Amino acid sequence: MIDERSVSLDLDPAEEPTADDEVFYNTDMILNRDISVAAVQSYIDGQERELSLIDALAASGVRAFRYANETTGLQSIKATDTNPNAIENMEQNNELNAGMDIDIEHTDAVIHMTTEAGQYDIIDIDPFGSPVPFLDAAARGANHEAFLGITATDLATLCGSYTKTCRRRYGTWMHKTSFQHEVGIRTLIKAVFEAFARRDMVFRPQLSFAQKHYYRLNGTVRESKKGVNRSLDKIGYILACPDCCYRTMEPNVEETTCPYCETDLNRIGPTWIGHLGRTEFIEQTRDNCTERGFDDATALLDRLITEIPISTPYYDTHDLAATYNVPAPAIEDLLRAFEERGYNAVRSHFEDTGIRTNAPLDHIRTIIEEC
Ligand SMILES: C[S@@+](CC[C@H](N)C(=O)[O-])C[C@H]1O[C@@H](n2cnc3c(N)ncnc32)[C@H](O)[C@@H]1O
Ligand SMILES: [Zn+2]
Repeated sequence: MIDERSVSLDLDPAEEPTADDEVFYNTDMILNRDISVAAVQSYIDGQERELSLIDALAASGVRAFRYANETTGLQSIKATDTNPNAIENMEQNNELNAGMDIDIEHTDAVIHMTTEAGQYDIIDIDPFGSPVPFLDAAARGANHEAFLGITATDLATLCGSYTKTCRRRYGTWMHKTSFQHEVGIRTLIKAVFEAFARRDMVFRPQLSFAQKHYYRLNGTVRESKKGVNRSLDKIGYILACPDCCYRTMEPNVEETTCPYCETDLNRIGPTWIGHLGRTEFIEQTRDNCTERGFDDATALLDRLITEIPISTPYYDTHDLAATYNVPAPAIEDLLRAFEERGYNAVRSHFEDTGIRTNAPLDHIRTIIEEC
């Protein structure tokens, strides 16, 4: 028996299934599910219509059951999976969990969302690895206004360890950087944006975050050719100096050498260079987490809220220290030094050693050398 928040599951879980027919359940994803529940509630609260949700890759159905028990305002919930054992298990657990009844179907989510075009107001995609194989179908299954929650666990590809796989799967030229998780999450957003743009729908990230082994996007989509056109300049390039920590995001590549050290810049892209979330949505979701007692989620979202206003990608303080040949400073001292000089500087949720600041690199260097 597994208890997670409001849900009890009669299940012998396989955290790393060795066979296709084992039913997957992973305690490491509780934070992901907590934030998903709270984010779906934030979306529901902004709508004045009846909403349908699909947990397209449901496995144990823990998400579907939690959405049923822990949100208010959903009209229907569908759960699909290709694994017959997952379906059988969900059907048993549907009896056990007293929330709204879930419509469980043994089917391929790609076929289902493609056939049920425009049916879903909220789509949760939580696959093994990359969500890319499910994006076109999600774009078809989505209503003309909808909400998406998307997980990716293929971090090695998104972070630059397998550059050819990244080019093949995401259409992005990748390089390894010291701010790899931001590069990775931006590249994931770009793939989602493009899948919806092809169907004249504009994707807007509302709340994106990285945890050790996964990225999770929450965003809205809306049918609007003009909206897509207006957002096209958010697809661009990240230019990163391999020698001195300089990085910039540009819609077009004009610069090719580093303005600080004249080294040739690495070009990453095309990728997403727009915002990673919207403060108001994250605050509302943080409040939903606080109300529900999701303390880790509240702490994470508090950090995200401080990061959102700073657009420059995060810096790894150990990388800065190594580059400028100084001992790594205590982060709190460093943040205070930035503030004293009038800059905005905060910890980044991407890395324990990460900071985000609007200070230019030459001032970052001076500050870290003095710290
Ligand atoms: C990572 S698990 C889902 C975990 C679950 N969402 C949770 O929060 O615990 C991925 C699931 O997707 C299912 N799956 C894989 N390909 C599928 C497809 N094309 N259609 C539907 N389900 C699929 C697998 O059987 C597996 O149960
Ligand atoms: Zn440089």
